[in-house]
Amino acid sequence: MEQLFFYLVLMNFALIGYGRMGRTIEVLGTKQGHSFPVIIDIHNHEQLSSGGLKGIDAAIEFSTPATAPGNIRECIDLGVPVLTGTTGWNENIPEIEAYCKAKDGTLFYASNFSVGVNILFALNRRLAEIMDQFPEYKVSINEVHHVHKKDAPSGTAISLAEQILELNRQISKWHLKKNDAYAEEATGQLPIEAIRKGEVKGQHSIHYESELDSITLSHDAYTRDAFAAGALLAATFITNKKGVFGMQDLLKL
Ligand SMILES: NC(=O)c1ccc[n+]([C@@H]2O[C@H](COP(=O)([O-])OP(=O)(O)OC[C@H]3O[C@@H](n4cnc5c(N)ncnc54)[C@H](O)[C@@H]3O)[C@@H](O)[C@H]2O)c1
Repeated sequence: MEQLFFYLVLMNFALIGYGRMGRTIEVLGTKQGHSFPVIIDIHNHEQLSSGGLKGIDAAIEFSTPATAPGNIRECIDLGVPVLTGTTGWNENIPEIEAYCKAKDGTLFYASNFSVGVNILFALNRRLAEIMDQFPEYKVSINEVHHVHKKDAPSGTAISLAEQILELNRQISKWHLKKNDAYAEEATGQLPIEAIRKGEVKGQHSIHYESELDSITLSHDAYTRDAFAAGALLAATFITNKKGVFGMQDLLKL
């Protein structure tokens, strides 16, 4: 953690997307001493391409799955390092990463900026490696989010599933679980249950179950500050770098 505090240098950030996450980042970042001279949302989006990012150290993008790829491209074209936490646009990620590298730009993407979730990712990978030797356990993922969330399953649940697919040869595919809770799961499948409830900030669990016992790893975000704190660290981290980065580059877990 010592290394993380090293990055607390005061910056001028642009916010692209001024919804729940954009506002949380502004409040926490202002307390930390950062400035947010540029705030872009749907109504003033044209400000982005008309010179609105002059003097900005990095842009912090939390918008929608449909608008994130375009916003990121614009920042790269303007030569401004961009961090995005928007989820639900996975199919465009390889193309945007290639665009960033071709233009010698700077991009930081994380499906989840909370330090705790990234610790969960490290534990999930280790457990998946171990469980590769124990096919009698069936694995499943459960995620719960607030009712306003646009994508399902969450980007974090997809990251957890892909980590398991990479390391556990018993599992070949993940899928979004249908409403029929009692449906028999085919062998080699990883069901993800996505529940939308109230104002839940984000809960994820990975569950292995045999006929004899079960093992569960879980994370519960109490406040959006958990994501905002990680996003501010990551945004500061990329201000003097070129390339494509993720939480592993920041936290080195
Ligand atoms: N990576 C993480 O750690 C993390 C954490 C929380 C949320 N998220 C994701 O971040 C995204 C935003 O979440 P939120 O809760 O703030 O959503 P939100 O709906 O509260 O805010 C999104 C904002 O984007 C704005 N917007 C729409 N089109 C735009 C455009 N073209 N340019 C700029 N802004 C535009 C909307 O008007 C809105 O204000 C979602 O995809 C969510 O899943 C990621």
